[in-house]
Amino acid sequence: MSIATHRPVLQGQRALVVGIANEHSIAYGCARAFRELGAELAITYLNDRARPHVKPLADTLEASVFMPLDVSTPGELEAVFESIGRQWERLDILVHSIAFAPKQDLQGGLLDCSADGFMKAMDVSVHSFVRMARLAAPLMSEGGTMFAMSYHGAQKVAPNYNVMGPVKAALEASCRYLAYELGPRKIRVHAISPGPLKTRAASGLKDFDLMLNEAMQRAPLGDLVDIMDVGFTCAYLATPFARRVTGTTMYVDGGVNIMA
Ligand SMILES: NC(=O)c1ccc[n+]([C@@H]2O[C@H](COP(=O)([O-])OP(=O)(O)OC[C@H]3O[C@@H](n4cnc5c(N)ncnc54)[C@H](O)[C@@H]3O)[C@@H](O)[C@H]2O)c1
Repeated sequence: MSIATHRPVLQGQRALVVGIANEHSIAYGCARAFRELGAELAITYLNDRARPHVKPLADTLEASVFMPLDVSTPGELEAVFESIGRQWERLDILVHSIAFAPKQDLQGGLLDCSADGFMKAMDVSVHSFVRMARLAAPLMSEGGTMFAMSYHGAQKVAPNYNVMGPVKAALEASCRYLAYELGPRKIRVHAISPGPLKTRAASGLKDFDLMLNEAMQRAPLGDLVDIMDVGFTCAYLATPFARRVTGTTMYVDGGVNIMA
């Protein structure tokens, strides 16, 4: 079935997607899937250096909000939500698809991770999601759905994933606690756990190609996932078809996670 034959099940929904660096970004797959299903988009870019790579994608997606956002820069997150509040008055979908750890901390084992590196990784990759949820919730006045990108290294040891294992475990737990706290407001929160994808963030992991090969060999479905697989899974979870589903870690990995 081609994408063009899908019904616009997200028509009228407004989605903020954070984490597009280029056309390979998981966040771009989410934004494209949402747009193809009828949603209106707000898109952010990290800084002036990233802008030229993200702007053409935002134009293709006809994003109505396009703003800089480095979650480590005081005030930028607030400015994005202020602008969305002013322009849209409401938000339905939030995607947090960002992660960071300093290179030397990411590439060494957990034992050798510096305190600063650990804190920075936790702040950008986890606490920023909590901050986003706090600002997004008042705009989700008719309910909504929030997503954060995790990885199976949160649950099981993935060689070379290092500090990101505990970081993603904290992210998944944060999703569950936010799902609990926001449930009474009909806001659903999910961690999404994609299989390995060749993106810029992934290129920072040692021996990433080995992870890709292993995933391909172990997947019951026999294939690697692509960014649109992730996007359409989020799109489904954002529709009323999934209105009783919250707090999950949803694997989009061809089934690798069920294997011993
Ligand atoms: N690629 C994979 O194999 C894979 C698998 C599972 C989960 N993930 C997760 O998916 C998410 C997206 O990564 P990706 O693989 O699409 O790579 P990517 O490099 O395309 O995206 C990472 C994004 O994080 C953003 N970012 C980093 N620091 C930031 C900051 N301080 N403020 C705002 N944005 C910041 C970057 O600008 C970039 O857009 C990450 O959370 C990653 O851990 C990736």
